[in-house]
Amino acid sequence: MGLSQDGVFRKIFRIATFVLELIFVRSYNYFSKNSGDIPAQFHSLYYSSPERTWKNTRWMGHRTMKCPMDLWIYQELLFELKPDIVIETGTNEGGGVGFLASIMDSIGKGKVIAVDIEELENRPVHERITYLKGSSTSDKVVQKIAKMIEGSQIVLVILDSDHNMHHVLKEMKIYCDFVTPNSYMIVEDSNINGHPIMPNWGDGPFEAIQEFFNHNDSFEIDQNCEKFYMTFNPNGYLKKIR
Ligand SMILES: C[S@@+](CC[C@H](N)C(=O)[O-])C[C@H]1O[C@@H](n2cnc3c(N)ncnc32)[C@H](O)[C@@H]1O
Repeated sequence: MGLSQDGVFRKIFRIATFVLELIFVRSYNYFSKNSGDIPAQFHSLYYSSPERTWKNTRWMGHRTMKCPMDLWIYQELLFELKPDIVIETGTNEGGGVGFLASIMDSIGKGKVIAVDIEELENRPVHERITYLKGSSTSDKVVQKIAKMIEGSQIVLVILDSDHNMHHVLKEMKIYCDFVTPNSYMIVEDSNINGHPIMPNWGDGPFEAIQEFFNHNDSFEIDQNCEKFYMTFNPNGYLKKIR
């Protein structure tokens, strides 16, 4: 029995609807799969506009290459822990250590030890900050720091110097002993080498953290410090648990 003209149109309409739906659903799934990771997309956008963002961030006029969302986390950690000493390796222009000193002023406690191989002019001058020149892994610098922190109850460490895996791992193995229980060793810029930016950078801080955990169980990654979705330090907030 043949179809009426109406029946033919209905059939064509159903087939057309089915095909359109199929195209729509497939396209939706394809595009949502590729645009689903909004924090990673924002991270890439942020990082790929350095002159507007991370090379253009200042604390009280001094440049820092840190992400403001990480700085806010630092403020929360400093307030919570009230460290006697924060050691930061890698000072650059000093905006980062200037920020730490300002928060310490508000808390009314704490000193900062800033280590860099270079001595740059116009870094913040602050009574809470001591600048040391030399490599963060040199015996001379490490022994000097060990002496400076003698007797300190609460010590927090931020590693932000040379970001190749070998150096970061070496720093982690040295500085982990300076960190006091319940305080933190923060490994910065673990976002490079594809986490999620600069996929071709090579092994860096992220890989150093992975390797560190193969031989050390005194720390755990505190994901709470990544609560703002974007951090330059993914897996990099390590809390000393024993
Ligand atoms: C990413 S910048 C530091 C940024 C800074 N912490 C801030 O908040 O803006 C890295 C710094 O590490 C320093 N650096 C490189 N190798 C180093 C090493 N072996 N020991 C200490 N500092 C080093 C560089 O001179 C540079 O100033």
